[in-house]
Amino acid sequence: MIKVCVFDAFGTLFQLDLPVDVATNKTALEALKISRQKQLEYSWLYSQMGKYLPFEKITMMAIKYAVKKVGLKDITLSRKLKTIFLTPNYYDDVVETVRELKTSGIRCGILSNGSGKMLSEVIKYTGLVDAFDFVLSAEDVKTFKPSPLVYGIALHHLRIPKEQILFVSSNQWDISGANAFGFKTAWINRSDSLREPILDSAETIILKKLSSIPETLNEFN
Ligand code: 2OP
Repeated sequence: MIKVCVFDAFGTLFQLDLPVDVATNKTALEALKISRQKQLEYSWLYSQMGKYLPFEKITMMAIKYAVKKVGLKDITLSRKLKTIFLTPNYYDDVVETVRELKTSGIRCGILSNGSGKMLSEVIKYTGLVDAFDFVLSAEDVKTFKPSPLVYGIALHHLRIPKEQILFVSSNQWDISGANAFGFKTAWINRSDSLREPILDSAETIILKKLSSIPETLNEFN
């Protein structure tokens, strides 16, 4: 039986989309896509090297590269990308989902690659300060998901069997990592992304939106 829902942060709770004024700008879209890819790539490379940099620094490196790569020396684009990553909005169904889960006795928290500082700023900015029971950062073990050390932070904090923890993410690599660690998982596939082979090794439920979580919880009983 699931007792706790642990949510990934960026892309799962917090939207990493372009602001409306540039949403159709192809160069800006490309720069955002590259920044997101490079942000992950650099975090994984640092993990592999046994080195650590806070996630906001990794994010800045990714943005710098992306803006250069699309051929713009555009300070405005850099600023817009920073705003997306550092002060994102949350998805529409976050508040109702967490409220419903908590009403039925499920604790809810965050486990993210974001540093403690980055997460507390985002949470303050979005006004979600009281929504979550706990916020955990990969910074505690100075490496990044999908390292089992990071999922272990949640286990250590919660002190309940792994099978009672549902890990929720919109990232397929994160779902694979959490499932390999032993958590139950729910992959939030909002935009019908193609299922990647990395997910084949994972047992997961697939949902289109966060608000479907409460009604699906009994599938795990
Ligand atoms: C996280 O919040 C990067 O989405 C990833 O950990």
